[in-house]
Amino acid sequence: MRTQVAIIGSGPAGLLLGQLLHKAGIDTVIIERKSRDYVLSRIRAGVLEQGMVRLLEQVGAAGRLHAEGLRHDGFDLLFGGMRHHVDLARLTGGQHVTIYGQTEVTRDLMDLREASGAATVFEAEDVAPHDFDRDRPSVTFVRDGQAQRLDCDVIAGCDGYHGISRASIPEAALQSFERVYPFGWLGVLAEVPPVSHELIYAGDERGFALCSMRSSHRSRYYVQCSLDDHAENWSDQRFWGELRQRLDPATAEALVTGPSIEKAIAPLRSFVAEPMRFGRLFLAGDAAHIVPPTGAKGLNLAASDVHYLSQALIEHFTERSSAGIDAYSAKALARVWKAERFSWWMTSLLHHFPENGAFARRMQRAELDYLVSSDHAMAALAENYVGLPY
Ligand code: APR
Ligand code: PHB
Repeated sequence: MRTQVAIIGSGPAGLLLGQLLHKAGIDTVIIERKSRDYVLSRIRAGVLEQGMVRLLEQVGAAGRLHAEGLRHDGFDLLFGGMRHHVDLARLTGGQHVTIYGQTEVTRDLMDLREASGAATVFEAEDVAPHDFDRDRPSVTFVRDGQAQRLDCDVIAGCDGYHGISRASIPEAALQSFERVYPFGWLGVLAEVPPVSHELIYAGDERGFALCSMRSSHRSRYYVQCSLDDHAENWSDQRFWGELRQRLDPATAEALVTGPSIEKAIAPLRSFVAEPMRFGRLFLAGDAAHIVPPTGAKGLNLAASDVHYLSQALIEHFTERSSAGIDAYSAKALARVWKAERFSWWMTSLLHHFPENGAFARRMQRAELDYLVSSDHAMAALAENYVGLPY
């Protein structure tokens, strides 16, 4: 097989890159380790910045999003028993975010790719990129027991944090930066109406909690938990009880509970690998960086990476110029680090850190009190939350 761009990974990064390149007449093949159904069964975040929505519109994948997505002009911060509204629209000159599950984004992009006739190989085993430090790279894999080779001009590593792309780059060529947080998020999805029409981020003494949603009848809730905890330790009843305790009385009273559809614990991590390019291998999305989920930047960062990378590759293939691909890593990283800072800050502000003493806890509270009393501080939160421009 031969293609111009071999894309490893069929998550949102790989799929969106594939469509942006397809629109520009550039041929791609996506190589994915899992099955289509498996990829579509993963439950991930659900807050889209306007920049990402525009990219989905640009490739023609925003129809269902516009019909079913929920426009949110604000969210609430809850601490000290009080809810404080963050009016995103007022603080950012009319910007908003859209609630639409990553799983749905992935489904829409997969359907579009299928309709466009571009090739995707699912259930590819032993995927390995080769010769990306030379002119003629390739990707090998095994499908149905048969060894295959895909020759290409460029490889896009869109295979997430545990993927093979970053791991194939010589260790000495990459610098990694990491912060692992001393807690996780226990998430529950349930077919119940959301407790509030907007999201609530709660910084409680018992730990962080988040009230989110997927639709007017499907809710997504999280509570901070210990890293050595297991989802099996949490009956639905225990989860709802703990969530209620982290909310103010009126919100706790309004909470509608029901059987969970999914329940899982995810660790929180900040991670960046630099640079995002080695020869003809380019990293995008979770393959290059991870943010803790507070502030919902992971999916949106994948979108901005892919925007920069698609522009660079289009320039490379249509103008035979390397200026764009040479600038890709620095351009993407400049935005990545700002989102890393924001996610780290929001995580630090709202979680209970076991190692924190009384002084650090008072500092957290003072910062929250300052934040909700100052339009300047709130505007800084709001402009990062809706997404920095790209
Ligand atoms: N070979 C082929 N495919 C692989 C390999 C491999 N060795 N390793 C992983 N993959 C696939 C995974 O199965 C997955 O489908 O790569 C895909 C990576 O997708 P994501 O993990 O979703 O990462 P990305 O596309 O960068 O999306 C950004 O935003 O909300 C966050 O972390 C969340 O997934 C989300 C991310
Ligand atoms: C979610 O709905 O899954 C979600 C929303 C906001 C976040 C993180 C996750 O900050």
